[in-house]
Amino acid sequence: MKIAISGKGGVGKTTLSAVLAHLFAKDGYKVTAIDCDTAMNLPSALGIKKKLKPLSELKEIIENRVVGPLGTYKLNPKVDDIFEAYSEYNEDGVRVLVLGTIEKGGEGCFCPENAFLRAILRHAIFKERDVLILDMEAGIEHLGRGTARGVDLLIAVVEPGSRAFETLERIEKLAKDIGIEKIAVVVNKYIESEEAKRMIEGIKHPVLGRVPFNECFIKADINNVPPYKVCNLQPFIEIKAEIERICK
Ligand SMILES: Nc1ncnc2c1ncn2[C@@H]1O[C@H](COP(=O)(O)OP(=O)(O)OP(=O)(O)O)[C@@H](O)[C@H]1O
Ligand SMILES: [Mg+2]
Repeated sequence: MKIAISGKGGVGKTTLSAVLAHLFAKDGYKVTAIDCDTAMNLPSALGIKKKLKPLSELKEIIENRVVGPLGTYKLNPKVDDIFEAYSEYNEDGVRVLVLGTIEKGGEGCFCPENAFLRAILRHAIFKERDVLILDMEAGIEHLGRGTARGVDLLIAVVEPGSRAFETLERIEKLAKDIGIEKIAVVVNKYIESEEAKRMIEGIKHPVLGRVPFNECFIKADINNVPPYKVCNLQPFIEIKAEIERICK
């Protein structure tokens, strides 16, 4: 299963990525989590204290692996060794990598960074009980067409509010443009109200679940503790089950 998690800034993408990585790992899945956000805070949400080197800093390696000596372009660069060397494992056995800033390339972009990212996504792939979680920036265009084809499910995280829903529309359009077919939504920081209910009813993609607003997540963040160690995970357990159902 390859899952990309996207949404507006601050909606809870990293929290969801970290908690899902934890739950899948606990359930015996082999989990790889890649931080594709330039802020790079997924490792700490997964309890990794060490600073990871972003893959995108490997400009030279990227160039060498993807572009041959005569300027020819390799479609299948080998990245297995890099993948291992730049991974850290947390105490659940989740493998964590950070991507850093990758050149954005839309449709038809054959930039080396994109080919490299594609190779990385392909690399860890992927037996039946393997899960790849990509903690994305709001813009998913840097996935590019070829890369996005490898993503089984795009989860858009929204807060019940009109701005988050505008972002959802943008994500939907982008996903369609780059060929991601399956989109689902997680409503985070949910506070019950008629207005919020109506908004959620209007979502045209499957809603995997709602996570109530809970100060525990904010405290965990402030104290730099992985959220799954201290907060109620019940809503996420249901979301995980839904993901398994949808991706079957
Ligand atoms: N259900 C929730 N209730 C209350 N606070 C939450 C909830 N989920 C996440 N938060 C808090 O909201 C803040 C932003 O969460 P998080 O970092 O996961 O979002 P993000 O979408 O990854 O942000 P960014 O766009 O900056 O990467 C954090 O302080 C986090 O603890
Ligand atoms: Mg984040």
